[in-house]
Amino acid sequence: MPRLLIISNRLPITVVKRGKTIRYTESTGGLATGLGSLIEKPYNIIWLGWPGIAEDKITTDEKKEITETLKEKNFYPVFLTQSQIDNYYSGFSNKTLWPLFHYFTQHAVYDKSLWNVYKRVNSIFCDAASNILKPDDIVWIHDYQLLLLPNMLRLKFPELTIGFFLHIPFPSFEVFRILPWRNEILEGMLGADLLGFHTFDYVRHFFSSLRNRLGLEHSLGHIHIDNRIIKADTFPMGIDYDRFSNAANEQDVKKEIVKFKKKTRDTKIILSIDRLDYTKGILHRLESYDLFLDKYPKYKEKVILILVAVPSRTKVEHYRQLKKDLDEQVGRINGKHGTIGWTPVWYLYNFLNFKTLTSLYIMADVALVTPVRDGMNLIAKEFIATKNNGRGVLILSEMAGAAIELSEAIIVNPNDMEQIVDSIRMALEMPVKKQIEKNRTMQKRLKRYNVQKWADDFIKNLSTIREYE
Ligand code: G6P
Repeated sequence: MPRLLIISNRLPITVVKRGKTIRYTESTGGLATGLGSLIEKPYNIIWLGWPGIAEDKITTDEKKEITETLKEKNFYPVFLTQSQIDNYYSGFSNKTLWPLFHYFTQHAVYDKSLWNVYKRVNSIFCDAASNILKPDDIVWIHDYQLLLLPNMLRLKFPELTIGFFLHIPFPSFEVFRILPWRNEILEGMLGADLLGFHTFDYVRHFFSSLRNRLGLEHSLGHIHIDNRIIKADTFPMGIDYDRFSNAANEQDVKKEIVKFKKKTRDTKIILSIDRLDYTKGILHRLESYDLFLDKYPKYKEKVILILVAVPSRTKVEHYRQLKKDLDEQVGRINGKHGTIGWTPVWYLYNFLNFKTLTSLYIMADVALVTPVRDGMNLIAKEFIATKNNGRGVLILSEMAGAAIELSEAIIVNPNDMEQIVDSIRMALEMPVKKQIEKNRTMQKRLKRYNVQKWADDFIKNLSTIREYE
């Protein structure tokens, strides 16, 4: 079996230094958790990525120790300096590409010096890959931090099999064209043999940008350049279905639920879990909950909102501001509606481990997943997968890629607060039989196209294109 070299900005493990101690923790976010579950499956995977710590914050010995520890898991670190991290990761990736691709054009900055470091870091990844590549390896590059890498590798290794997957939306051409470096980005992506996106719309937008900017037409999803065939297609990422579906049978999860239940007692639980990101629509969601309590006061003391915000990209101003706004908003709602013995919003700003995460999924009566824009959203899928008694209602934004596969959920426009308010009531009052019926249908779909199937499908397609050339 050929080796599969996965390249992503972040490794599934993040290295942290506390004092003199080096610690290894699981990375957060859809990409790392979703892809991470492939490691134990029958792929000969090696993984290249940033270990989450700045090179200038560690000693040469620590660097060696980190490299050796990660190598035991077939992970290869790409070390970056603090300044590279600031400009490439916090900078061009998360101040330019992330907001623009999520239609937050007002947040995007266009700064040549950030772009230069982005190019430089993509070339550092290219060199790091070159050092470990073997002739038959298949390379699978992931996400917006590495859009230039496919072509950098192509120029060095014309025969290499290269796949690329974008985990965030590809925006409509009218938004994409705003980017000063739009042509370079498209050319970078075209170094891959296969380009994967979560939804058909993202593929469509990509093709329209290719036509408008580079004059390239596709024929049935294939683009011909020189002697190469490049394909772009839809591969909606799945989850490790069995792991989530079996969680309710695990002893430690059961114990955790008993512990939580003592605290929540008979109140209905509405659950909201996200990385703390402005694309997730957390403030709108809170406001809707506030309006819900105004409009349906009979639910006061009968319901709580458990709001989990996982810290993310804390060096970027818009994320910091959001944290402040969120703290304030939670305080305001709890002050306004709370009574002695009842706190309407239970707010956690923290990372959750699998046990706590799945316990919350299992206990929740309603999951409120209302991003204003989201490439896929695996939280929605995980919530449904964990519900093995079939009970629970998902309220899902139509702006999340996942809404296409989870059409039995209550689908809402995340900007329409009235609609969210009434959806919360509808969810709390939905007959159990109907909940079970809807969830079973979605579960079947998620089980069939799980993360394993997603990866198999992508790799199979990638190999097939190479056979045609
Ligand atoms: C999203 C992106 C991933 C990213 C994750 C976590 O899911 O698509 O590429 O890894 O968020 O964000 P972070 O900036 O912490 O890597």
